[in-house]
Amino acid sequence: MARDPKYDILFEPVKIGPVTAPNRFYQVPHCNVLGHARPHAEAANRGVKAEGGWGVVCTQEVEIHPSAEITPYIEGRIWDDRDIPQHRLMTDAVHEHGALAGIELCYNGMHSSNLYSRIAPLAPSAIMVHGDYPMQARAMTKRDIADLRRWHVEAAKRARRAGYDIVYVYAGHDMSVLQHFLKPQYNSRSDEYGGSLENRVRLTREVLLDVKEAVGHECAIAFRFATDELMGADGLQAESEGRDIVGMLAEIPDLWDVNISGWDNDSSTARFEPNEGYQEPYTAFVKSLTSKPVVGVGRFTSADMMVSQIKRGVLDLIGAARPSIADPFLPRKIDEGRIDEIRECIGCNICVSQDMLAAPIRCTQTRPRARNGNRTGIPSVSMPPPAMTRCS
Ligand SMILES: Cc1cc2nc3c(=O)[nH]c(=O)nc-3n(C[C@H](O)[C@H](O)[C@H](O)COP(=O)(O)O)c2cc1C
Repeated sequence: MARDPKYDILFEPVKIGPVTAPNRFYQVPHCNVLGHARPHAEAANRGVKAEGGWGVVCTQEVEIHPSAEITPYIEGRIWDDRDIPQHRLMTDAVHEHGALAGIELCYNGMHSSNLYSRIAPLAPSAIMVHGDYPMQARAMTKRDIADLRRWHVEAAKRARRAGYDIVYVYAGHDMSVLQHFLKPQYNSRSDEYGGSLENRVRLTREVLLDVKEAVGHECAIAFRFATDELMGADGLQAESEGRDIVGMLAEIPDLWDVNISGWDNDSSTARFEPNEGYQEPYTAFVKSLTSKPVVGVGRFTSADMMVSQIKRGVLDLIGAARPSIADPFLPRKIDEGRIDEIRECIGCNICVSQDMLAAPIRCTQTRPRARNGNRTGIPSVSMPPPAMTRCS
């Protein structure tokens, strides 16, 4: 069947810095608990989404240094050059279908357990670690800040060598040291990295510029930023500092990927956010402050809603985590006029609960391949046990 012309706009290419997304369907970073532990399954999971028509396919959070790792949970790793081959599996799988591959560089800071590395977690100020175990994070010295900037640059260069087209700087979900610096609740520094908003934004600005200088000629630099924490004056608010931060950094990244924080607000269940597009009140302002493309999320499953987001100037790219998990072939089904066949995410969040259990991703709407003939990229129970070693 042919595509309904009213959806043509979703299939327009979008220029993002030095690269071009083939359409507006954008799989934002999401964990699948495959990552560094199961790199072949990771590549298959991302590759099948590219096959299903997503124009950009991203990794999950990818740790850039062992001083911020979240054992026993599993994300990506790009600690050193030995990690490049496992990422190459992913970028090759995505490029095979003409999509762009994005990587979310992440330094979890005081959200890190460091149970594997046993290094004291780093934070803007000495503060208790947000995690399952009673731990204290160490206040970062100027030397730590210089190291953090260097780790981002080194990871970005590795990412480019691994074949990524989009490199993320990340300040969201209460899980990133850059966001921790932005928040006065965590940042009580008295030097040029604390106090005024200008000072709290300084590290994010430096890292964005560092990464841009390192790989920005070849890769687009995306900034994932949570504009609001839904905590009122006790957290970042879109109507005040959230807006100010976007204004201060407006033209630095090539792409704004905006959402809300923490993770429970962002990936809200259908019980609490029954309607798609629920983040619009917090992120719609971003496009008025930047000339760069904007991607946002909100459990988008309806093609009409996606078109409305673009036409009303809310977003340039339709971001999706859960809808891409529920149906990796969602874009292709719109393209082929098979809308009725889309398996819509119902917002049950079994995908999130698997993540909390450090177990490979699952979905109530989709099944492993071979059960019903549809391919999902979600590992089947009949797969051999995954290798726990690094690939080479
Ligand atoms: C299972 C799961 C894992 C996620 N992991 C990440 C992650 O690693 N990094 C990140 O920035 N966001 C992560 N997210 C948040 C999503 O990127 C997205 O912002 C959120 O789910 C809202 O989009 P959606 O309604 O399209 O799912 C995750 C979401 C889910 C459902």
